[in-house]
Parts: sequence; C-alpha cells; structure tokens
Amino acid sequence: MPQNKVKVFFDRLDYLKNSSDRIDIRARVVRQFLGEIGNLKILDIGCGDGSLSLPMLNESNRITMVDISDQMIAQAQKNVPDHLACNVDLINGSFEIISDALQFDIVLCVGVIAHVPDVARLWRKIANVLKPGGLLIIETTPNPYPIGKLLFPYYFVRNLLSGKTPQYAKNRVKVADLLEAAKGIGLESLQSVRYSFPLPGMTHWSHKAKMRYTLFTLNNKFASRFGSEHIFLLQRTAMETTHT
Ligand SMILES: C[S@@+](CC[C@H](N)C(=O)[O-])C[C@H]1O[C@@H](n2cnc3c(N)ncnc32)[C@H](O)[C@@H]1O
Repeated sequence: MPQNKVKVFFDRLDYLKNSSDRIDIRARVVRQFLGEIGNLKILDIGCGDGSLSLPMLNESNRITMVDISDQMIAQAQKNVPDHLACNVDLINGSFEIISDALQFDIVLCVGVIAHVPDVARLWRKIANVLKPGGLLIIETTPNPYPIGKLLFPYYFVRNLLSGKTPQYAKNRVKVADLLEAAKGIGLESLQSVRYSFPLPGMTHWSHKAKMRYTLFTLNNKFASRFGSEHIFLLQRTAMETTHT
C-alpha cells in the first residue's frame, strides 16, 4: 500500500478514538508478557500514542518510539511524563529510519505489519536492531472476521460507508508465515495469545463491556480458537549477521 495513504489515515487519529478497547487489550498483553522490567532499551515500532510502551517507562528503561504519523508522535509526546522525558526518543518517520547501529533488548511491533508496503523490510529491520537474547512482541490479524465469512458483505458495505477503515488493502499475514519469517532471523516463540473484537452491533457498547467481551475471548480456551488477532512473544536465540 502507498505509505502516504497509511500516514494520512493515521494522522486523522480516528484509530485512538475508535479502538480504545483494542489498544487497552494490547497494552495488557504486552504488560503480561513482560512483567516488571528494568535497565532495558525498548523500541516501539508504530507506537501510536505510546499506550503500549509508555507503561514500561521508568528511571532505568529507555524507550525509542517511531511512527510514520506526525500526529501520532505528537500524541505520544503528550503522554510522556516530563520527569522521564530524557529516557524517551521520539522519531517521526517510517521504521526504516531507525539506525541499525542502535540495539534493543525489546522490540514492539503491534498493529503495524498490516500497514507496511514491504513486510520483508520490516523483518530485516527487526533482525538488525534486536540484540541476541532480545524479545520481540509482534501482532498479526490474518483473518479479521473469523466468526463468519458470511458477514463479509456487511463489513464491506459498513467500511465503505463509515470511512473508519483505511483506503488500502491491509496485509493479512498468516501465523505460519509470521513464525517462518521469525525463525529465519533466529527467533523462537515463547508465548502467544489470540482474541476477538466485538461483533457487529456491539460497536456502540461501552468500553467496559467491549473489554469484558474481548477478555472472555482471550481467556476462554474455546472462544480463543476463533480469535482474529494474534500476539506473539518471541526471543532471539541465535546471533545473526546483519540483513540488508
Ligand atoms: C494500528 S496503529 C497501532 C498503534 C499501536 N502500536 C497499538 O497497537 O495501539 C498502527 C501505527 O503504526 C504506524 N505506522 C504505520 N506504518 C508505519 C511505518 N512504516 N513505520 C512506522 N510507523 C508506521 C501508524 O501511523 C500507526 O500509528
């Protein structure tokens, strides 16, 4: 997809307003995967307003946040507490802008793979900046509507009329392909979760009710199998050479 369309879409900041439950659940998963951490360098690719990485900001952790949308970066900046601003680097641009000379203990890449024109480039960047032994948290949504392909016509018309979804085709990276690409750069899966978002008709539910539904689909073993969104915690086991 053209990167300019991606930037234009996220500059509208509708994502923050319309997806507060999505952001909340992702932030919880990241916290749950990592627990309390200190003395680490964290890279948040496609940081949005920083909701996923800023909870890990403290006196000892250093966070680099990169986002193609200047409006998102501005929101992230607002969310950085003044007394910890010296531990945060905010970068406005596509992820390629991150120097390969920088090395991180943790890389977050949540909600991004669907929007990049070249997924292989994203993997190369991750390969080049993640330290050996480092952790990657990455998300993919291979099928947005697993509950029923029957609902596709409904979603198609709704999305067309609402303008809430991007005007480009998202990458629907399959889990097997994601794990294969991860293996290719020496990453192995430690944990994963899977959950669904509210069905049509539930979109006007309160944040609390939507969270309750999504948490049910996350925690219930049967419901989880129908989840549309997958988040993986992977660890880099092998020392890899630089990828260009
Ligand atoms: C769906 S939002 C996810 C935000 C946050 N990570 C979350 O999960 O809530 C995708 C974010 O990635 C950013 N983005 C898209 N393509 C990007 C790229 N090539 N480089 C950096 N950021 C990008 C968008 O501007 C947007 O803020």
